[in-house]
Amino acid sequence: MKVMLLMGPPGVGKGTVSERLHARLGCRHISTGDLLRESIAKGTSLGHQAQGHMTRGELVPDGLMVALVEEQLDLNGGGDCLLDGFPRTQAQAQVLDKGLTERGARVDAVIELTAPDDVVLKRLGGRRVCATCGAGFHVTFIPPKSAGVCDRCGGALVQRPDDREEAILRRLAVYARQMAELRSYYRERGVLFPVDATGTPEQTEAGILTALSRA
Ligand code: AP5
Repeated sequence: MKVMLLMGPPGVGKGTVSERLHARLGCRHISTGDLLRESIAKGTSLGHQAQGHMTRGELVPDGLMVALVEEQLDLNGGGDCLLDGFPRTQAQAQVLDKGLTERGARVDAVIELTAPDDVVLKRLGGRRVCATCGAGFHVTFIPPKSAGVCDRCGGALVQRPDDREEAILRRLAVYARQMAELRSYYRERGVLFPVDATGTPEQTEAGILTALSRA
């Protein structure tokens, strides 16, 4: 099993480029943000515990996240996977390493998508997601064919509750702290690859594929 991690500030395009990588490489896309939003939509105990943290733009406690990801790795059945949004703390990174070692695997590449704050703020400000299937769009950069309607399933497009200005600013601050810790953790292990994400999704995907070919 090959394991790739995708990191980057909120709104940099992790979800967008993950869909493209999933289609191109056939790897499983495990997004902890998506899993948490599904848990909230289903009204599970995890969803109840995570919702307040997410709406405020704070991290969900490590204990909840680790249990969620361990379960996903077992469901993965040994295939290659792309982890998007996990780990976010050094404690999560250590538990992931231990869990992968037990499964005869390791983190093969950590892709850090980079873009300045003004770019991610424009992307988050115009983001719309389908309330039914979760597909992502942008009112200007990646518009749906019909305003407010999902191209994929016809569902209504809405804004995420954590895309309010106050929550966005907190998420950016949390990310800066989190990444400072994780950058040195993965740099020491020789698996960190920064990729410029200011261009189109196609350009970002090409940058990631080049980085993976060097991993
Ligand atoms: P999560 O869902 O992971 O959110 P995030 O990291 O803040 O990232 P986003 O989903 O906001 O952005 P993205 O980079 O995927 O961008 P997208 O592709 O949508 O986590 C949410 C919350 O869950 C966290 O705050 C935390 O509370 C909790 N959580 C999750 N994991 C956790 C963990 N491990 N530990 C603790 N808590 C955890 O793109 C954004 C917009 O830009 C879209 O409109 C898109 O269409 C557009 N766009 C994308 N690429 C481009 C491009 N190249 N050019 C122009 N527009 C683009």
